[in-house]
Amino acid sequence: MGKNKLFRFAENATFDHVVQPTFTELSEKGLPLRGRWNSDFFKRDAPLVLELGCGRGEYTVGLARLQPQNNYVGVDIKGARLWRGARTAREEGLTNVGFLRTHVDHITRCFGPHEVDQIWLTFSDPQLEKPRKRLTSPLFLARYKEILKPGGVIHLKTDSPVLYEYTLEMIAEHKLPLYEQSANVYTDLVHRVSPEEQAVLNIRTYYESMWLEEGRTIHYARFGIR
Ligand SMILES: C[S@@+](CC[C@H](N)C(=O)[O-])C[C@H]1O[C@@H](n2cnc3c(N)ncnc32)[C@H](O)[C@@H]1O
Repeated sequence: MGKNKLFRFAENATFDHVVQPTFTELSEKGLPLRGRWNSDFFKRDAPLVLELGCGRGEYTVGLARLQPQNNYVGVDIKGARLWRGARTAREEGLTNVGFLRTHVDHITRCFGPHEVDQIWLTFSDPQLEKPRKRLTSPLFLARYKEILKPGGVIHLKTDSPVLYEYTLEMIAEHKLPLYEQSANVYTDLVHRVSPEEQAVLNIRTYYESMWLEEGRTIHYARFGIR
């Protein structure tokens, strides 16, 4: 393993805002923080927002800067990636940010029923060969329904037309409320939303920056759960 990775893993272990449950811990009892993120982790009552597959945590940290009134948790399986977000949050003194290193399949073992207000899915792997594993598949929508509050919201931002169209199909099939959709965020959506929403949509993740450089189009959907 590279020195950089080892350094990042070691530093993650010193961060009290990075939670790294073991598989056994999760499968036996679930995360002790489950249902208690606001009271025991953030120590304040505020809307709880997740970013699933957060990578380097640009959305988690970017949203936390823009909307300090919310609590944010970035979730990713790769510790060396989420370290970047954790380090930035620490350097900037952001107290409304946490990171959880786990597999998204464990999400209902980590968050309690109706504990979460919003979920961001940012440039998730489109899983071209395995639609069941897509983060907007019926399996995942059922998981989100469990952890989201009634009226909770899911944001999808993606460069993948396959994932975008698939998500719109799932929304229609499950008769979910669709609040916003755009096949091209930057030529369409940003011109018809408030400056606050523009700032949110303009956050660029590592993958988004790469795809924009390649000239790819960015899609967005915001929808609810029933
Ligand atoms: C294409 S990257 C996007 C990262 C980031 N959201 C961005 O836009 O730069 C997908 C991310 O999802 C994470 N990921 C993929 N499958 C996962 C899983 N089953 N559980 C947790 N994270 C996962 C990967 O580690 C990776 O960081």
